Amino acid sequence: MRQSHPVTYDDREQQWMVFRYADVRRVLSEHETFSSEVESHGHTLTPLDVSLIALDPPRHRHLRALVTQVFTPRTVASLEPRLTALVNELLDQRVEAGMLDVIDDLAYPLTVTMIAELLGIPVLDRAHFRRWSDQLASIVPFDGTNFMGEMEAYFSCLLAERRRAPQADLLSALQTAQIEGQYLSKLEILGFCILLLVAGNVTTTHLLGNAFLCLDAFPQVRAHIEERPDQIFSVLEEVLRYRSPIRFMFRVAKRDIVLGGQDILAGQWVTAWLASANHDETIFPDPERFDPQRSPNPHLSFGYGIHYCLGASLARLESRIVLESMVRRFASFQRLPGSRLQPLSAQSFMQGVLHLP
Ligand code: HEM
Repeated sequence: MRQSHPVTYDDREQQWMVFRYADVRRVLSEHETFSSEVESHGHTLTPLDVSLIALDPPRHRHLRALVTQVFTPRTVASLEPRLTALVNELLDQRVEAGMLDVIDDLAYPLTVTMIAELLGIPVLDRAHFRRWSDQLASIVPFDGTNFMGEMEAYFSCLLAERRRAPQADLLSALQTAQIEGQYLSKLEILGFCILLLVAGNVTTTHLLGNAFLCLDAFPQVRAHIEERPDQIFSVLEEVLRYRSPIRFMFRVAKRDIVLGGQDILAGQWVTAWLASANHDETIFPDPERFDPQRSPNPHLSFGYGIHYCLGASLARLESRIVLESMVRRFASFQRLPGSRLQPLSAQSFMQGVLHLP
């Protein structure tokens, strides 16, 4: 598609599909033309419709400023000892069995626990978090439950508790935060909680799954990180490029615009294919080769522009610690022979596998 139809209208989806790196980057970053406010017309607003990821400036800028502090590289770096302990605990639990499922036993519990601790929500409820997150990201087929309603009820209850007895956590902080002298609406606070909970776990979980799939497919990469543990970072960047956890993001055109020679009309939906941009041969030489030392590696897996992933430092730290711990603790590991790889639901905007024993 990058060669033959770089910008094309999909009649079935009724959306423009954009595949080339330069065009994808424009769609992601030119927020005056391509709006993130894709859902907010014609139906009752859900919390996610008023969350950071679904807003344009100036509201986006104001809301983002409230939470950037929690996710700066420096604040995130202070989580390293806790993360390392957590990874070791999870690995310890599986040592005797001699088998672990990267998704179920390691990635989900790790990422859900971390984001729950950051938000200030009970880690014991993590089985719910996983079901809600998987439903919201369409990772598994819709199970018929009102998962959004359940999330709203759950967080409303916790927020009421925090109003009675504030604590030193994000839930309490969001309730006292103000923008230009106004408190956030209840829907906005719920939107923050739900976005952070879900974005904080499904994405990194599938980055980790994708990392182990790559190690399995390219055994020389494991040898490479054993020799050069300092290069785990660039291996992970290549995993992000090669198997982007998020395949695409949506925008809506705010005005008529010509992109890739095509006339996009105001109001039409545009899908920016990050996973395709990351394999664009004009930017990444030999893009189908997994190159653990690729440099530069300007992949778009964390987005680009004002919506650039807020959790990128956390995701990078979590995945580095997991990879380092696995390589340090186990002389060898491999995918369970004969285990079947089940991709995420085709409806999902995410790329990964459901389980990885
Ligand atoms: C935004 C990817 C991990 C929180 C984004 C965007 C992408 C992305 C592509 C841009 C969306 C857009 O342009 O519309 C990823 C990937 C991750 C990851 C691939 C892991 C490998 C995380 C984590 C958190 C998080 C761990 C939370 C702690 C967010 C938030 C936004 C965002 C809040 C919205 C930012 C904004 O609109 O200003 N992420 N993410 N992400 N991500 Fe991540």
